[in-house]
Amino acid sequence: MNKREQLNQLREEASLGGGKERIESQHKKGKLTARERINLLLDQGSFEEVGAFVKHRSRDFGMEKQQFLGDGVVTGYGTVNGRLTYVFSQDFTVFGGSLSETHAEKIVKIMEMALKNGAPVIGLNDSGGARIQEGVVSLGGYADIFYRNVQSSGVIPQLSAIMGPCAGGAVYSPAMTDFILMVEKSSYMFVTGPNVVKTVTHEEVSSEELGGASVHSSKSGVSHFSCENEVEAINQVKALLSYMPQNCEEKAPRIAYEGGDESRPALNDIIPDNPNQPYDIRQVIDGIVDGDSFLEVHKNFAENIVVGFARLAGRSIGIVANQPAFLAGVLDIHSSTKAARFVRFCDCFNIPLLVLEDVPGFLPGTDQEWNAIITNGAKLLYAFSEATVPRITVITRKAYGGAYDVMNSKHIGADLNFAWPTAEIAVMGAKGAAEIIFKREIQAASNQEEALKEKEAEYGELFANPYRAAERGFVDEVIHPEETRHKLIRGFAMLENKVANMPRKKHGNIPL
Ligand code: HXC
Repeated sequence: MNKREQLNQLREEASLGGGKERIESQHKKGKLTARERINLLLDQGSFEEVGAFVKHRSRDFGMEKQQFLGDGVVTGYGTVNGRLTYVFSQDFTVFGGSLSETHAEKIVKIMEMALKNGAPVIGLNDSGGARIQEGVVSLGGYADIFYRNVQSSGVIPQLSAIMGPCAGGAVYSPAMTDFILMVEKSSYMFVTGPNVVKTVTHEEVSSEELGGASVHSSKSGVSHFSCENEVEAINQVKALLSYMPQNCEEKAPRIAYEGGDESRPALNDIIPDNPNQPYDIRQVIDGIVDGDSFLEVHKNFAENIVVGFARLAGRSIGIVANQPAFLAGVLDIHSSTKAARFVRFCDCFNIPLLVLEDVPGFLPGTDQEWNAIITNGAKLLYAFSEATVPRITVITRKAYGGAYDVMNSKHIGADLNFAWPTAEIAVMGAKGAAEIIFKREIQAASNQEEALKEKEAEYGELFANPYRAAERGFVDEVIHPEETRHKLIRGFAMLENKVANMPRKKHGNIPL
């Protein structure tokens, strides 16, 4: 065999991972291979592989005889919609995609290149965790990856698509990246699988119940997206990238936009006459942003707050919006942490923030108090307060109590604050307020019910409107709903070159 033939043969061998039989078994499970996934993700023909001939160095348990070129992970770089992107794709056909010392070295190499060259890293994860035969060197390999995850955090976007069963270390690295996507019915995330759970806690639970896409995208919030299949997951990764800059020094790509009539009369008819009646805040979002540009994040988790990316006159923005259609849009532990993390992502990557506010306050009760709504609510307050990106708030209806302060009020650094005429900005709802401050008058009245109603109306007249706040400049302008898009386009354009610096510090101490 000449040198040329030798190289071609090695390339062929590397492309087969754990071998044809295992690839077939992967396909039978409805799963794609590591390379097929990369081909779907990257622009056609753009993939450049790094480390195809790497072999593991394990010598125990007869491992020296079981060698597969590439050692269970395909790594390299290419482009997604023309933009440089680094990728690693774990190959379940080689020891279940488990992470050996050398497998880890390949991932670390890609992560370091990405950090140096300022481009996102996409992990296509399909791994049984630390390679059991290797012991501590595989654990060390994971720690090397975790360390790079943190070095890269806030510098370059890191996205994790979970494409198969992922256990142990294989879930902790994704947990430290910016977004996690899971595939329904074929991907799982758990620290330990059902067998270990049974041994330790005697709990019988299936993989799906323990750590399936539906559980993690609705109950735990570990995953931001639940995708029907692998192709949808990869398309979602590409869509997400389109809203982000390559790194923290850049702005997100801007799509050409031809200005026109920006009035949106449909927005005038969304708020119901009865202030206690719900409506779907997504209608307001869709009415404001460009076409169908809204990409919702964490759709099925903490539905009382809606977060996601959109475009406004071609500019990428992040949206945080209370959702009156779910739990009246109240702020609770999960909605606070969900929104806080999203705000921090946008702030890391220079994505301006739009807040739509309709919030009756924080959720009261023992469940919330005992599980630390104080600490968790403070996360959102902290995240907004430290964000230096352009920030605009629109109060559509309720802005009550502490939630008024938290939801990107001017007091904590919002740049512009608009209110619709339907806005109610007060310490609490008129009924509760009247019951407290007019308690004596109401008790003394011959008709107490009538007296309460009267006082409620009096309080409502004074405070259940945006004008008190506008008088003080806490609201910059009261606007008709139809004007919102126009005002926001101009507002964000005005804020395009905003400079705001935090005092010099090592880092803050967000209440974790
Ligand atoms: C070596 C592994 C492996 C591992 C799977 N395999 N996990 N080899 N190390 N960690 C191998 C299997 O032996 C098998 O090889 C092949 O991969 C496919 O595995 P199956 O079990 O047949 O597949 P499946 O039924 O789909 O189950 C997948 C799985 C399960 C859920 C991932 O394999 C599993 O529970 N693996 C162990 C998970 C785990 O506990 N990992 C260590 C975590 S500790 P053959 O040759 O038979 O095809 C950890 C520490 C990190 O990661 C520290 C974090 C802070």
